Amino acid sequence: MSDYNGVVKVEFDNGVAWVSLNRPDKRNCMNPTLNTTMHTVLDDLEADDRCGVLVLTGEGEAFSAGMDLKEYFRETEAQGHIAVRRAQRASYGWWRRLRWFEKPTIAMVNGWCFGGAFGPLYACDLAIAADEAQFGLSEINWGILPGGGATKIVTDLVSARDAMYLTLTGDRIDGKRASEIRLVNESVPLAQLRTRVRALADTLLEKNPATLKAAKDAVRRVATMTFDEAEDYLVVRQESLNYLDKTEGAKEGIRQFIDEKTYKPGLAAYKRRGAE
Ligand code: ACO
Repeated sequence: MSDYNGVVKVEFDNGVAWVSLNRPDKRNCMNPTLNTTMHTVLDDLEADDRCGVLVLTGEGEAFSAGMDLKEYFRETEAQGHIAVRRAQRASYGWWRRLRWFEKPTIAMVNGWCFGGAFGPLYACDLAIAADEAQFGLSEINWGILPGGGATKIVTDLVSARDAMYLTLTGDRIDGKRASEIRLVNESVPLAQLRTRVRALADTLLEKNPATLKAAKDAVRRVATMTFDEAEDYLVVRQESLNYLDKTEGAKEGIRQFIDEKTYKPGLAAYKRRGAE
């Protein structure tokens, strides 16, 4: 287990890096120290072969209670607008870094998930919640609008009606409802959460890592493109992948299906050279 400044914990287990926001006494709300620390964590994990999939979760009963209202807002605002911009860069920066992380990422939402926590939630490629988790855009409850991308995030992920409802009411929804409105991929009972996330991570670990990176970027990139732009981008991205993937995965995948007949691509992934 690696401890980062007492605010983030990282554990490795068979290809998965379990990253826990680690301020349980403060419900893992994000202060400037945590936000700065997460840049180091992501830098380290990107270069660490023990991390094939990154799982982001929270220690204790919260995923994250959003931004730290005392340290991120009040104390930073007291230092003036340059300090505010610096704090914003640190938080928005690690969420952006996570959005484009070199490896697939899963948010494992174990409990409270408020406001600013929608940033890392959205940044993760996939999200599995506990049925018992509680989500809310609570900004309206204390007098601000959902910033830090949160308003954009909900309009990207859920319907306009649901986005407006969450934004204007500040009402909480549980993991099951979050799954129904597609804020997360699915929800399971808390007791099964880690097992389900482990299984999902194992599915990802079977795939070609270079292809996973290209594919996850493609999903995010094409969202704002015209159809023709997307077509073109996907051709070019695949051709760059052909160059970057020194294992020549696609040729190997065809060979194992057509020549060896050892697997069927409709049913499973080809066996990567050197993979278990
Ligand atoms: N900012 C600063 N401190 C926080 C935050 C936060 N976002 N969330 C919790 N804490 C602190 C509490 O002040 C308390 O500190 P203390 O022990 O020094 O008194 C400690 O964490 C525990 O919090 P409680 O409120 O006692 O925990 P409880 O389990 O009863 O409630 C809950 C949990 C519902 C998450 C509650 O703490 C809460 O409402 N937090 C704020 C959630 C929120 O609205 N976040 C901001 C979203 S908007 C944005 O992020 C931009």
